[in-house]
Order: sequence, then C-alpha cells, then structure tokens
Amino acid sequence: MEYIAISGNNPLKGSVEISGAKNSAVAIIPAALLVGGICVIENLPVIEDVSNYITVLESIGVKCRYINPHALEIDARNIHTTSIAPDNLKNMRASYYLIGALLGRFRSAAVPMPGGCNFGARPIDLHVKGFEQLGAAVVQEHGAVRAEAESLVGTQIYLDVASVGATINIMMAAIYAEGTTIIENAAKEPHIVDCANFLNRCGANIKGAGTGVIRITGVQKLKGCTYAIIPDQIEAGTYMIAGAITGGSVTVRNVIPKHMEALSAKLSEVGCTVTAGDDWLKVTSNGKFNSCSLMTLYYPGFPTDLQPQMTALLTQAEGVSTVTEAVFDNRFQYVDHLMRLGVDIKIEGRTAIVRGPSHLTGTDVVATDLRAGAALIMAALVSKGVTRISNVHYIDRGYEKIEEKLRSLGANIRRVHEGDAPALMEA
Ligand code: EPZ
Repeated sequence: MEYIAISGNNPLKGSVEISGAKNSAVAIIPAALLVGGICVIENLPVIEDVSNYITVLESIGVKCRYINPHALEIDARNIHTTSIAPDNLKNMRASYYLIGALLGRFRSAAVPMPGGCNFGARPIDLHVKGFEQLGAAVVQEHGAVRAEAESLVGTQIYLDVASVGATINIMMAAIYAEGTTIIENAAKEPHIVDCANFLNRCGANIKGAGTGVIRITGVQKLKGCTYAIIPDQIEAGTYMIAGAITGGSVTVRNVIPKHMEALSAKLSEVGCTVTAGDDWLKVTSNGKFNSCSLMTLYYPGFPTDLQPQMTALLTQAEGVSTVTEAVFDNRFQYVDHLMRLGVDIKIEGRTAIVRGPSHLTGTDVVATDLRAGAALIMAALVSKGVTRISNVHYIDRGYEKIEEKLRSLGANIRRVHEGDAPALMEA
C-alpha cells in the first residue's frame, strides 16, 4: 500500500507546467477508434486513465505505440472485435465512450457498464436514449451495455441534462450516420470542443461544439491525423488553489485562461490576486480569505471538478461560506475525511456550510475519489504536522506527477510505499 505524506504550512511559490486534459484524453483516445487509419495524439498526460485506455484498445486489436511519453500513435485499422472483456476494463468511468465509438464505426458494441464514482449515481440513460434515437437497439444485461444497429440515421436529440459524456458519446455515434444529427442542450465543456476539433481534423463534419446546439453531418470516411489535446483546466485550477490556500504565489503555465474564468473570478472574490497572460495564470494570496457562496454549474459555470478543492480553501476563509453542488447529487463524501483534519463543515442536502478559518492538524485520511484526493492535499498543505493520504491510485488517475509538481513549488510532500522508511518530513 502506498500513501502521500504532506507536512503543511509552506507557502507555495513558483511556476508549474500543466499537462494535457484528462477529460480530453479519455474522449479522444476512444474517438480514434472511429478512424480506419493511424492517429497521433500529442500532449497526453501521463496518468492511469490513459494507460488503462491503451490496455483496452490493444485488447480489441488496436496498435498503440508511444512516440514519446506524451505522444501516442493509435492504429485502429485492424480491430478484431467490438466486444470489450470486463477484465480489461479497470473501474474507469469514461469507458462509456467505447460504446459510441464502436457503434458509430461498426454498428455494434458490447462494453462493461462504466465504473461509478463515490459521488452518487452516474447513470448513462441519456447516452442510451441518444443511441436509440439514432436507430440502435441497446440492451443492458450481465453488467454490460450492448448496442447494435442495422443503420444509424441522423435525427434531433434533446438532452434532458447537459451531460458531457452523453454529448461526446452521441457525437461519436453520429459521425458516420446518414444525414444530420442535431444535439440540443449539449454540454459546452472545453474537452467537447477538443474532441470535435480532433474528429473534424480527421474529416468529420461537426459544427457548433462549445455551444448548446451541435450539428453532426455523417461522412463516409475519416483519415488519420496528428492532434495535440488542450491543457487540463482542472489540474491547473488545483495548483492555483494550492498556491492560494498556502498564502503563496503560483503561476500555472501552458493553460488557456479563458477555460479558467469561473475559478479566476472566485479566487479574486475571496481576496486573491489573479493575473493572466496568453498561456499562463498567476495567483497570489496572503493566506486570508473572504467567505463566499459558490454553486457548481455546467461550463462556463464553476466546474464541479474543482468543488472539493475550493471547499478546502473556504475552510480557511473568515466567516461562513456556502458551497452548492448542482451537477452531481452527492459529491460531498470527501468532507468526512476533511473533518478529520479539523474543518468545520455541515452538509445540508446539496449544500455545504463552511465555517472558518479552521486551524487544521495533520492525520491519516483516505481519498474517496480523484478530486476528493485533491481536496485532501489542499487541506494537508495548510495542516500543522504530517497528513498521510491513502488510496493514492485515485489521485494518479488524473494528476501527472502531482508530488513532483507540488515539491517544485516548495511543498513538503513525499510518496511513501509500504515498507519504506517513514517519510522524513520537516516539522
Ligand atoms: C464528466 O463526467 C467528467 N468525466 C467528470 O469529471 C465531470 O465531473 C462531469 O463530466 C461534469 O463536468 C469525464 O469527462 C470522463 P455528466 P460525466 O454526464 O460525463 C447526470 C473528473 O473528476 N447524467 O456531465 O459522467 C449525471 O448523473 C470527473 O475528472 C444523467 O442523469 O458527467 C450528473 O448529475 C468526475 N444521465 C450530470 O448528468 C446520463 O446519461 C452531469 O453528468 C448522464 C449524466
């Protein structure tokens, strides 16, 4: 078993390079299955979700070759099955994209149900409804989703919820469909635009990605291309919050500031100074924060994936803050573990009432999902003494070299493996 050990109270200072976006990578890698050719995806993050996806693709005949640690060549010319074996699919939420990609190209897909997360139900009913509206027969049985179609015909699809996954999945299934598919109430996240741009570079005909209405006109063929994915706005936001919570000054480089507007505005509102360049953002803080009210919303609203990290920061704000999670029905499990560090948070339905500032002290805590782990790291950075965070595999799913990047900013952080000498941490 391994854990991350952090001794808090060092203001973080310096700059950190942001990696490619996890949520683009886990959409564009399966999207390459739509292409009967060779694609090279660049600026890929070195994270578990990417390596898990490569294992799955290779299990159905896709040839994957790393050109360098951040560039992957994907040859999907000789896929020998559209059925994914369960044991090849580690508990990865984004596996649902395999359905849309395989159905879109081969009119057939059998994929194990995607893993859930520790923050409520993660249904895929909107994905399935979209596939059925395109003409597929979809059956969910024995823990798998099977989709078959004689043909796929473009149609108008209204999403009851602006679901990121359903938007991308239906976009993929419609790539080769006859006629035009219109997705209404589509999600607008940057990784949706990124995936559409990749597919258009391969010869697809997708218009309106990034708006609430996306039109996909079916094409006959896609050709391989080289494509660099966008930087990860959630990783960038996590380091911005880390700089803020420690009363430091952190610059995140290789970002798209426009993708970070909601967080930049909220950090300014609580008292930080945020400055922007073409591809960087700098956050400076004196470690004192005004309380605020925060609600997560679909893009361009405040991202739900930064809610746990921002809640950790608000435990250091003067007074009472409220955090309302409006995207997922239950994304506060991590608060139980934050409480062990000494925070004052009460959950009322979908709202966390956060009182501060709280003086936090280090102890052993457990990450319950990817962003929960990030929130625990945020709090550990301002806790007196050593905090040990287990379930590090969750964190590795979405953050490339997190302890190296934080250490480069001055954090006192170590990854400790079972049996190692206890991490020597300055007091
Ligand atoms: C994507 O998840 C991201 N994952 C999540 O990031 C992110 O939190 C989420 O979008 C919202 O931005 C990937 O991109 C791999 P949704 P997804 O469908 O697609 C409901 C991270 O930390 N819904 O936009 O699963 C759903 O329950 C992860 O990087 C349905 O009801 O999210 C939720 O309440 C966590 N039916 C809401 O929509 C459906 O068929 C938004 O979910 C699909 C979703």
